[in-house]
Amino acid sequence: MGGPSRIARQHAAGKMTARERVAALLDPDSFEEIGAHVRHRARAFGMDQQEIPADAVVTGVGRIHGRVVYVFSQDFTSAGGSLGEMHAQKIVRLQDLALKTGAPIIGLNDSGGARIQEGVDALSGYGEIFKRNTWSSGVIPQITVIMGPSAGGAVYSPALTDLIVMVEHTGQMFITGPQVIKTVTGENVTGEQIGGAQAQIRKSGVAHMAAADDAEALALVRTILSYLPNNNRELPPVTACTDPLDRMDEALAETVPLDPNKPYDVKRIIASVVDPDSFLEIQNGYADNIVIGLARIGGHSVGICANQPRVLAGTMDINASDKLARFVRLCDSFNIPLVTFVDTPGYLPGTAQEFGGIIRHGAKVLYAYAEATVPKVTVILRKAYGGAYLAMCSRSLGADWVFAWPTAEIAVMGPEGAANIIFREDINAAEDPQAMRRTKAEEYREEFANPYVAAARGFVDAVIEPAQTRGHIAQALMALQNKRDDRPHKRHGNMPL
Ligand code: HXC
Repeated sequence: MGGPSRIARQHAAGKMTARERVAALLDPDSFEEIGAHVRHRARAFGMDQQEIPADAVVTGVGRIHGRVVYVFSQDFTSAGGSLGEMHAQKIVRLQDLALKTGAPIIGLNDSGGARIQEGVDALSGYGEIFKRNTWSSGVIPQITVIMGPSAGGAVYSPALTDLIVMVEHTGQMFITGPQVIKTVTGENVTGEQIGGAQAQIRKSGVAHMAAADDAEALALVRTILSYLPNNNRELPPVTACTDPLDRMDEALAETVPLDPNKPYDVKRIIASVVDPDSFLEIQNGYADNIVIGLARIGGHSVGICANQPRVLAGTMDINASDKLARFVRLCDSFNIPLVTFVDTPGYLPGTAQEFGGIIRHGAKVLYAYAEATVPKVTVILRKAYGGAYLAMCSRSLGADWVFAWPTAEIAVMGPEGAANIIFREDINAAEDPQAMRRTKAEEYREEFANPYVAAARGFVDAVIEPAQTRGHIAQALMALQNKRDDRPHKRHGNMPL
């Protein structure tokens, strides 16, 4: 590493050193280092005189919960963790090994980016890394932790990985930093404002989770990996579960208010249905009208997707669509069954949404669910209207099992909107149009806004007691355990982006 004074500076900034991070991440004494003696061969700008230990990145293999993982940890105390030709080669070697052996790869990023003195050698190093990030996508889990700066094109390696954890206050990601922004657009922003954990999680949706410090971030990576298989040919690890699969929760019947316009917190339902304390929410704080996360049912990993009626009434919009579609694909890549809870009145109306391309973004959700071949179980809690009903893993889109609570309303649109259109003449001709609208809306609700019409057509497999939801989902997942679902061979699809 870069010597006592730079290590002291690293610690003073609240950061661990590269080696301390590796030790905290991995099972004790499991690290086997690769390439500790690698040195750069740059000559320009006085580099022939500059010693950069391990070329500013610690690379190797170790274990997490006994399973093999590859890890690289950029050393900010050596040349600012900057990435030169040999630094890149070390990461590339690790990526190749991880891909060949089917093991997850974890990147601990803390770097000033491309090593300025090495010019195009550094740039092409990034290119080699991006290429392997892409090749590895959907084959092995790739997890990034941003524990210091990550600037310029360097941010694209993290962006190509599955999940990004950011350390609050020390982790920063941006394409162009404050000085360039000031010069080009005149805006005054700090690095934290433009690229800190809160900005990249809440505003941009680039990062997925925040941690208070290095130790918490590394512990979080260990937790994330406990839900994921080593690679796409394996099933996720199964943990022991003492919570009975048929555990009932009578209070669930009270969760959904009788008034269809009243919000409630869908996380209450998720927490009740999954194994105790197993829900690991992802992208909390971004597009909160959709809730996503990993959880376990009976010790088996599941991906939870749920509309959140508490935020924007659970409508689907551009950001929620992007968030949901990417998560569905993450789960499908790694053999994690999908459990979807539906309560959405539809897509968010407005020019901002239309001009922003809600058609294109919303289509991602349809694509992702229809493409997914893992077991797919859907529970309709309340509203499932129109296109959003279809999008939220409906039977027509490929759900293997669809349950509905008695409060479910499956219709082309909400009763009020429907009455306004199909009973317009009756309403206009009535002495009291408001009262007539209410009557007609109620008629429509009676006819269509219940689960039984859809159940009669086979679009819903069972109308269930809310209290028994966990048991029904567990049964369905067990029945679907050996699901095999092949699609026609193709080079790859052309997903709307
Ligand atoms: C070479 C670098 C470096 C870099 C930092 N250092 N970044 N050396 N190449 N990119 C060195 C510094 O010279 C210093 O060396 C040590 O690392 C620590 O840096 P400081 O500036 O003292 O630290 P700090 O004040 O904490 O500031 C950190 C920083 C700043 C914000 C990262 O160093 C910085 O702005 N660096 C340049 C960032 C950048 O523009 N990178 C290029 C991005 S473009 P000494 O010897 O004094 O300790 C990119 C393209 C990728 O990466 C393209 C992919 C397609």
